[in-house]
Amino acid sequence: MAQEDIQSALHEDRVFPPPAQFRKHAALKAGDLEGMYAKAARDYVGFWADLAASEIDWHRPFSLALDDTKAPNYRWFTDGRLNVSHNCLDVHLGELGGKTAIVFEGEPGDVRKLTYAELHAEVCRFANALKALNVGHGDRVVVYMPLIPEAAIAMLACARIGAVHSVVFGGFSANAVKDRIEDAGAKLVITADGGWRGGHVIELKRAVDKALAEGCSSVQNVVVYRRTGGECPMRHGRDLWWHDAVSGVSSVCEPEWIDAEHPLFLLYTSGSTGKPKGIQHSSAGYLLNAKMTTRWVFDLKDHDLFWCTADVGWVTGHTYVVYGPLAAGATVLMYEGAPTFPDGGRFWKICESHGVDILYTAPTAIRALMKLGDAIPAKYNLGKLRLLGTVGEPINPEAWMWYHRVIGGGRCPVVDTWWQTETGATMMTPIPSVTPAKPGSCARPLPGIFADIVDDEGRPVKSPDGGGYLVITRPWPSMLRTIWGDNERYRRTYWEKFNNRYYVAGDSARRDKDGYYWIMGRIDDVLNVAGHRLGTMEIESALVAYPKVAEAAVVSKPHEIKGESVFAYVVLNVPRPEGAAAKALIEELRTWVGEQLSPIAKPDEIRLTDNLPKTRSGKIMRRLLRSIARGEEITQDMSTLENPAILEQLRGGGAPPPPPAPVAAKRAASVKGRAPSKKAVASKKAVASKKAVAAKKGTSSKAAARSKPKKAKAAAKRSKPVKRSKPAKRSKPVKRKVVAAKKRRVAVKAVRRKPRGKK
Ligand code: WTA
Repeated sequence: MAQEDIQSALHEDRVFPPPAQFRKHAALKAGDLEGMYAKAARDYVGFWADLAASEIDWHRPFSLALDDTKAPNYRWFTDGRLNVSHNCLDVHLGELGGKTAIVFEGEPGDVRKLTYAELHAEVCRFANALKALNVGHGDRVVVYMPLIPEAAIAMLACARIGAVHSVVFGGFSANAVKDRIEDAGAKLVITADGGWRGGHVIELKRAVDKALAEGCSSVQNVVVYRRTGGECPMRHGRDLWWHDAVSGVSSVCEPEWIDAEHPLFLLYTSGSTGKPKGIQHSSAGYLLNAKMTTRWVFDLKDHDLFWCTADVGWVTGHTYVVYGPLAAGATVLMYEGAPTFPDGGRFWKICESHGVDILYTAPTAIRALMKLGDAIPAKYNLGKLRLLGTVGEPINPEAWMWYHRVIGGGRCPVVDTWWQTETGATMMTPIPSVTPAKPGSCARPLPGIFADIVDDEGRPVKSPDGGGYLVITRPWPSMLRTIWGDNERYRRTYWEKFNNRYYVAGDSARRDKDGYYWIMGRIDDVLNVAGHRLGTMEIESALVAYPKVAEAAVVSKPHEIKGESVFAYVVLNVPRPEGAAAKALIEELRTWVGEQLSPIAKPDEIRLTDNLPKTRSGKIMRRLLRSIARGEEITQDMSTLENPAILEQLRGGGAPPPPPAPVAAKRAASVKGRAPSKKAVASKKAVASKKAVAAKKGTSSKAAARSKPKKAKAAAKRSKPVKRSKPAKRSKPVKRKVVAAKKRRVAVKAVRRKPRGKK
């Protein structure tokens, strides 16, 4: 397949050094970090082995750190024995037993707190209940719960007895639950009658009933936690209430000592074939990176309240709501509901009322809240916030700036953490006390992590800003071990492309002259227009930088001359025009993108729409949009589509979509992009390869996803986009975007090419 390096047209030159005050009190100093890098560069296996020895409480110590005899099925610390729940709970009981482990706020406003001692007792009690249900070592347990403490208790109880949990996000449909139960061969399902989301009850137990009615013969029992108190039919002999299961049960439960490589959990992510992949994680290696990254990246202090807004249904919830913070002895906040319930101030109210110190959320949530304007967060005291983080998607510089300025008051470092379900824990991020941050960049790999950018042949791309495949060049402890039940798919998806030399992340990225990584999107989201490979994210960012645009999704469509053409779906933050006015706006948008990025990047077609199709985790379903743009039959798995009603409108061809619904603020994610630099690129005549790059298809897990239509009207009325805030209000280094864009130098880098058609 012909493949040129991927070009980048996004140029961002703002830099935010760690604030002096933050640096002064931070645990990790520049010198420490350098020492860690140096040690890992000399001996990365020894680097991890030393940490594993000192940071994990082993029942039996390991003697072999890395076993690569079956590479790319790497194994770490194999002959060690431990228990993950012991490492998250028991180890703290002496000193921290009375410390709050979880602060929970339900969507209706109920608040509960659990100390480490209380959490330990609950986990032990529930672990005993699981044993009584004949669940034990190696059995798979599906957890389909709202984001309540019992979800964490269920996970930790599984870990305590060596059962393998597979958490399924509570927003998934019965069908998705069924697929996952069946693939995992789960013996038990733990669920709730329902959970609160956006003022409504999500009826979880009913979905489980539906899934079980259609198959799932492996399931013997269903444990149901009473959360909402709604009507909840129970099937005699199969279903039992959580409170009955633990009633009178002892809170003493010795942990089961398991091998380091014993699977701690499976977590399903969508794959390119539509069949979800059960990503299998180990116990010790996963725990180590979860704990270390929590410490390194979030600079936890003893009294910090750490809030990762992710649902436990996503990997972010596993690693930074449950395992990482608890292993590190932190206090975590858990919030059950939607960020916009009962209004767009809910997140900020929670920050104020509980005194959140560290907030870690997703760009999709940031963009949704940004769209509601600065006035809402201004009503709350966010002064206790010390550090902000983001994960899950590339964050558009515009959203980064808003987060930094409006939420962080300009004083909080922002850590943009890149990682994946497969990597288990953060791989690349600025260290908040050391690394100057650049909005939109995840900076550099952490110590012990080795990344690179390579071309289609696997050769490192050395030129600054040259784009290519993001790869991880050495194994790391929390890497996925395999795909459950399909090791061949594991090898094919992540290793085959470069003959097992690298782990292929499936993302495209570039590295700038300072060694900072910039994620450009999934590899298969890359366009090849007249020989220029452009990240969809960059065109989307340019579109969103236009004042009337709230959100955009860009896909490719085959083109006779250019190879691929650019097809954009655009959601406005003003009423959607029709007829001649629509045509005029589309022309304006095309010209704008042409000016901002390159004439090459100009969308050939733009479809104005009221909304975009998203997964329940807030990720735009680009594959679906691509099929629609191409007029193809839709074959994708639609079970994770949050808003199926949108399909007809998107398909609408030239026909005008239905009248504007108040959707401008309905969903998360206006892809706010800073206007990238203007550039002139001579159009290449050559016909580009039409083939998409074969790579792992995007995962669907993202945090904080489903915002509600409630705020829509108000936001639709706002004709003035929030990003047009007055220059005086912005934090220091920020200039007005448009002015800055004009000044910015040409950003398109010389692109190294190799002969076309080369395999
Ligand atoms: C994307 C979430 C840019 C990326 C932890 C990756 C990001 C996929 C970032 C994994 C980031 C995650 N900047 N892109 N900081 N973080 N991604 O499995 O495409 O839900 O491959 O894991 O999200 O998503 P997943």
